[in-house]
Amino acid sequence: MSKKSVCIVGSGNWGSAIAKILGKNAKDRSDQFETCVKMWMYEEMVDGRKLTEIVNTEHENVKYLPGVKIPENVVAIPDLIKASEDADILIFVLPHQFVAKTCEQMKGKIKPSAIAVSLIKGVSIDDSGMRMISNVIKEVLGIECCALMGANLAGEVAQEQFCETTIGCAVNGTGELLKSLFETPYFRCSVVTDQATVELCGALKNIVGIGAGIADGLGHGDNTKAAVIRLGLMEMIKFSEIFIPGSQRATFFESCGISDLVATCHGGRNRMLGEHIVKSDKTVKQLEKELLKGQSFQGPLAAREIFKMLKDKNLIERFPLFVSVHYICLRESQPEEFINCLRNHPEHI
Ligand code: NAD
Ligand code: 13P
Repeated sequence: MSKKSVCIVGSGNWGSAIAKILGKNAKDRSDQFETCVKMWMYEEMVDGRKLTEIVNTEHENVKYLPGVKIPENVVAIPDLIKASEDADILIFVLPHQFVAKTCEQMKGKIKPSAIAVSLIKGVSIDDSGMRMISNVIKEVLGIECCALMGANLAGEVAQEQFCETTIGCAVNGTGELLKSLFETPYFRCSVVTDQATVELCGALKNIVGIGAGIADGLGHGDNTKAAVIRLGLMEMIKFSEIFIPGSQRATFFESCGISDLVATCHGGRNRMLGEHIVKSDKTVKQLEKELLKGQSFQGPLAAREIFKMLKDKNLIERFPLFVSVHYICLRESQPEEFINCLRNHPEHI
């Protein structure tokens, strides 16, 4: 079997943490993978220097993952086509709002035999309905695309603290190939075939994470957070039953499901957003700029997209937690209303 070359499309907080894993594995498993891992970087200036130049000389993404060394065989490239044209495996790890545009630029310029894997937590909604991000990648580029998501807060993964992740892949052999690319003693990968549920969990848990932060901001404790997690999980399951035919309950017990929900509701950026929404009167955009310094909250966009799906199908009353988070992010509802929404949740009737 010929060696596979790997390109990471994206280089933010999670992209940089995953670059650390992929750089080491490509080097250690050189019978399977080309040692050089290319990483496309959306170029920007940091303290008067190009970020790609900083990464390639200091081997650290000083803006998005400071303090963590990225292996020297990971090369940051600002030109998307140069980075991706020779790749056999494309790892997509961008905030979901940039995926379609990025893929359009790559269309017709990558290897037709390449495979992709999406690490992106979000969905794409347009007039024709909801598509998983892997489907956007698949449709635009005409290649196979799997998904990898789990309870994987980037900072902790970068510190090599043990965690699990889920690879969603229905194609024979590809899941095992991706497992051998990503797995380390501290990053344990399980492969399941129910890919759509894996991806949907990744998008929906970000909305619940904001809810957990709202409860924190209001001064509530662990019992309330546990209720947010349980009711959020029930809405995630119900949503998948309605919108993904064939979705399997067992997938919610993988890392992409309950574990990611718990991790996000305790340590995620979306949880932090919820807390700050309560404690300030700033907009989500202002809070993103101030708190994340270039990184992005994916929950508010997911809440808006999911709200549109629910409204179009007349299902708003059945998903009060998702809907309440959406209105609070827009500042059209008071944070205190979130607790009322939990109190009156249809799961209690
Ligand atoms: P991030 O929040 O750090 O986002 C910043 C990135 O977006 C930077 O690389 C920036 O260069 C890039 N960017 C800005 N404008 C752009 C544009 N116009 N086109 C393309 N790129 C642009 O990103 P992240 O944390 O790496 O998250 C990427 C995905 O991974 C998201 O879907 C997120 O939910 C998911 N994820 C994140 C974590 C985490 O802990 N950070 C963990 C698991 C999954
Ligand atoms: P946040 O985007 O809320 O930080 O969540 C990161 C994540 O997806 C952890 O698995």
